[in-house]
Amino acid sequence: MLVFGQEILAAANKGCYGVGAFNFVNFEMLQAIFTAANEAKSPIFVQASEGAIKYMGIDIAVNMVQTMSKRYPHIPVALHLDHGTSFESCKKAVEAGFTSVMIDASHHCFTQNLETTAQVVEMAHARGVGVEAELGRLMGIEDNISVSEKDAVLVNPKEAQQFVKETNVDYLAPAIGTSHGAFKFKGEPKLDFERLKLVKELTHIPLVLHGASAIPDYVRESFTQSGGDIGASKGVPFSFLQEAVKGGINKVNTDTDLRIAFIAEVRKLANNDNTQFDLRKFFTPGMQAMTKVIVERMQVLGSANRI
Ligand code: G3H
Ligand code: 13P
Ligand code: ZN
Repeated sequence: MLVFGQEILAAANKGCYGVGAFNFVNFEMLQAIFTAANEAKSPIFVQASEGAIKYMGIDIAVNMVQTMSKRYPHIPVALHLDHGTSFESCKKAVEAGFTSVMIDASHHCFTQNLETTAQVVEMAHARGVGVEAELGRLMGIEDNISVSEKDAVLVNPKEAQQFVKETNVDYLAPAIGTSHGAFKFKGEPKLDFERLKLVKELTHIPLVLHGASAIPDYVRESFTQSGGDIGASKGVPFSFLQEAVKGGINKVNTDTDLRIAFIAEVRKLANNDNTQFDLRKFFTPGMQAMTKVIVERMQVLGSANRI
């Protein structure tokens, strides 16, 4: 059943577990996410970036999710706009039927981020829709980073407290050292869990981890076996994801793992059968690989068997 984002995250915050927010750009990815949620008995966020919306068409994206939600009425699903870049973009998503939106004004100064977020909150709440915002910049932290450099990049807990109070935002993504994509850490993985805990203590609201792909060894190996090259890739280890959930993370954004797992299978078939041109033969193993990754993630985050 399609529900507002706050509903899923209020339960996760209370129960201290993380809910995967999985990106989709087409029907195959969406189908894999729903199949996994059904198998693992987990609530889900399905999220589309502005790029994904442009690719699918906003009406098609919303219709696909509404139809899938009807097919699986027992699964709580939120349809979320990932990294909305403007008030207008969030408004379009809300009007089209999204049940959760992110306004990402984190590249602006604190005051501007706060003002834009407050405007989006007012607009979205009028329709019951939940809002996510981001504080700090998403980038890895090196071992030798100085305290002042770290403070300049990562979330400031005191600012987070003020931001939440003044915007009335529903969930917040604090930058604690993750980044998007397949190459998150140069050396050993490192996240600022102390900072995360402080943000939680000062805000109490559901928190969001962006750049949360783990790139498990079997996923990297599958891609490498297919002839792909992501040798130096490094994701967020499962133990870090679990520590992040303990520290107050409730929404866990995951895209890169899904892309890699899916495309590895497409590459394998393309390599192994140069006479094949039936799209279904390429996409079916892609969806299956993606479903396996998601079911495992739901178990790691603790959202499995919650419905
Ligand atoms: O956070 C970014 C997501 O992985 C979506 O990426 O803008 O390429 O669709 P995209
Ligand atoms: P990954 O690139 O780690 O999958 O992060 C996705 C994300 O944060 C989407 O908002
Ligand atoms: Zn993100």
